[in-house]
Amino acid sequence: MTNTDNTVAVAMRNVSRTYGDPANPIHALRDVSVDIRRREFTAIMGPSGSGKSTMMNVMAGLDEATSGQIWLGHNPIVGIGDTARTILRRTNIGFIFQSFNLVPTLTADENIRLPFVLAGRKPTAEQEAWIAHLVTSLGIRERLGHLPSELSGGQQQRVAIVRALAGRPTIILADEPTGALDTRTSREVLTLLTTAAREYGQGIAMVTHDPVAASYADRILVLADGRIVGEYRGLDPRQISDLLINLQGAAA
Ligand SMILES: Nc1ncnc2c1ncn2[C@@H]1O[C@H](COP(=O)(O)OP(=O)(O)OP(=O)(O)O)[C@@H](O)[C@H]1O
Ligand SMILES: [Mg+2]
Repeated sequence: MTNTDNTVAVAMRNVSRTYGDPANPIHALRDVSVDIRRREFTAIMGPSGSGKSTMMNVMAGLDEATSGQIWLGHNPIVGIGDTARTILRRTNIGFIFQSFNLVPTLTADENIRLPFVLAGRKPTAEQEAWIAHLVTSLGIRERLGHLPSELSGGQQQRVAIVRALAGRPTIILADEPTGALDTRTSREVLTLLTTAAREYGQGIAMVTHDPVAASYADRILVLADGRIVGEYRGLDPRQISDLLINLQGAAA
């Protein structure tokens, strides 16, 4: 794919996800239809319990939609087998999750390279240069030989970020990627995500509660009670926090 490709990275149509007893269901997502485009940085906001993590998990094929359809590029991911879904995920998606999901028995460097190992390929020279750039930008070069248990929460988060960005996947799904980071490192991560979208044409979906983090995005989707209730562009942090406060007022 070229850098001018702004086609859809993930398309969701009429997706619902219901948990629990069918007689008394929890509607985590209700009839959500949305596109996440390549070259675009989308922030997903909304109150706790509004369905943000569920949306990411379902988009990634880590959790099964109760109804509706989802495409990763041109490939449907609902109703295909687990193996097919795993392969699609491995080649197309980079994850940065609330829990970092690093492999505890591998060093930081081995964790970063794991997606390449699983895919049975070696990083190209260009990918090696990109990994080196990411590691340096995020200040973890000295920590590469350490196990996750020997790293701080913020350092583990940065390792997970390098791993997700390293292979330049079609889409990066990030659930509160800056939650465990200090201000300076947060800005660095947000700048890298912006670069990934602008220069490398990747699609980004980032869940955040932080109006400053969301202001780096091109587009903000607001979820409430399992539905998309708003879509905004060009807001500054102040406008974003006013929006969230009003939303909570309306729900109370
Ligand atoms: N595995 C599960 N079983 C039952 N209910 C669940 C499950 N996962 C999520 N839920 C429920 O679905 C709803 C949406 O949860 P979700 O984790 O998507 O919220 P969120 O917007 O990510 O919240 P937060 O900002 O707190 O991370 C909540 O009511 C939650 O309790
Ligand atoms: Mg969540």
